[in-house]
This record gives sequence, C-alpha cells and structure tokens, in this order.
Amino acid sequence: MSATTLETVTQIHHWTDTLFSFRTTRNSAFRFQNGQFVMIGLEGEGRPLLRAYSVASPNYEEELEFLSIKVPDGPLTSRLQHIAPGDSILVGRKATGTLVADFLLPGRNLYLVGTGTGLAPFMSLIRDPDIYARFAHVVLVHGVRQIAELAYGDMIQNELPNHPLVGEQVAKQLTYYPTVTREPFRNRGRITDLITSGQLFEDCELPPLSSQEDRVMLCGSPAMLKDMVALLEPEGFIEGSSNNPGSFVIEKAFVER
Ligand code: A2P
Repeated sequence: MSATTLETVTQIHHWTDTLFSFRTTRNSAFRFQNGQFVMIGLEGEGRPLLRAYSVASPNYEEELEFLSIKVPDGPLTSRLQHIAPGDSILVGRKATGTLVADFLLPGRNLYLVGTGTGLAPFMSLIRDPDIYARFAHVVLVHGVRQIAELAYGDMIQNELPNHPLVGEQVAKQLTYYPTVTREPFRNRGRITDLITSGQLFEDCELPPLSSQEDRVMLCGSPAMLKDMVALLEPEGFIEGSSNNPGSFVIEKAFVER
C-alpha cells in the first residue's frame, strides 16, 4: 500500500507574496491528533516530493488545511504555490508529532508559542475542545515580521468566539497575542524578549511563567526554538515526550530554507 493517498485541493488563500494556505479533501481513513503533522507533496520525477506539514485544521473537520511559505527555489513550495482548486496533492497516511496534549503534564496555563508558519499546529489545537478541558487558560503567541503575516488573525479574533463547538471556551479561555517585529503594531518585539521583560504576562494579565504550573508548546524558526529552550530550561521546564510527559514540547518548523 502506498504511504500516501491522492487528495484534491479544494481552496487556496494567499496571505502575502510568501505565505499561503490551502484546503484538501481528506481520506476517510486518515486520523490525526490535533497538533500533529503529516507528509504532503506532489509527484516528482520518478518519486514523490514530500515535506512535513502540520495540519492547521482540527481533526473533526471533513477537509484538511495547511499553511505554507513560498520559497522561490524551494523544490516543493516553488511548485506548491501554484496549485489550484481541483489539482491533486499527495497526503501521507500517517500523522505524527510532539505537539500533543498527552506529552504535557497537567497544568494551569498553556502557552502556544509559534513564529511564521509555526502557527499551523496551534490553529488545530485552539479548536480542540479537549485543550480547554485540560487548561484553565490557553495563550496563543504568534510572532511575525510584518502585520500581513499574521495569518488567521481575523478569524481567531472575530469568528472563533462564535465557533459552534469551541466558541464558548475560546471566548472565556483563549488569549490571542500576535506580535510583530519589523513594523509598528500594538504588540511589538520578539517573543523571547516579551517573555524576558514580562511584557507578555502584563499584557495578558497572567502571572509570570512557572514550570510548576504552566506548560509550553513551541513551533517555528530554529533560532526562536533554541532561544526559547535556553530561556525555559533554567526556569525548571523539562521537555516532554510520549512516555515522559513534561512541561514543554517542541517541534521544528517544517519549512524549506
Ligand atoms: P526578527 O524580525 O527580529 O528576526 P522568520 O520570518 O525569520 O522565521 O521570523 C519570524 C519571527 O520570528 C520574526 O518576528 C523574527 O523576529 C522572530 N525571530 C527570529 N529569530 C528569533 C529568536 N531567536 N527568538 C525569538 N524570535 C525570533
């Protein structure tokens, strides 16, 4: 049996010149946990060209959604950015990944920290009712260079509080904290700096990070991941895995460089 199924692109949204999202049909046998990733791609010369992409849609939706950057000479995204509704796309049969609630110990507040397309797995998780049952408060921190890169920002703020399944929990328990580094915006600066200075907690009206009570999921630029780990570990945060749940989990951004 092939490792992938052939799906059809149903919708595409171009956020900026370098960022787009798209939806595909979903094989009825495809199962995943919110926050996981899957290999997707296109037929290549001789063999398929596949890359890991976090699923941005929640696992109860009929279709799958993905968020991607466009790299002009990237082997996959240089082609993927031209896909249109009706085109075929390969989607792996098996999802995996570490950004799942079971890899974390129980806690008070859950911080979802992503830069760029590292937002994708969190778009799935913030629509998961279970996450709101596990944590009193969920804080979604999205760091980007330009305001236009704040993909889904409008949807998170204006539509999600009315979502039929999680709207009530979103309205009560989710804080969305977008931050921009390279142009004026209401929240400015790198996520690491906003944590170190305490600005993030002040703005969210939450206590400073505590490894005893808070849990963190990280996804995005390798430099951000490295700096976040260097910030969390001295505070007593321990990385979690499937057999050893911890106080933070980490996934690298699945982007072509
Ligand atoms: P900056 O503009 O200061 O580089 P990128 O597009 O390069 O993946 O970056 C996405 C966002 O992540 C940008 O706002 C960028 O800020 C920020 N960023 C890059 N490196 C780090 C880091 N080491 N720690 C925190 N944020 C970072």
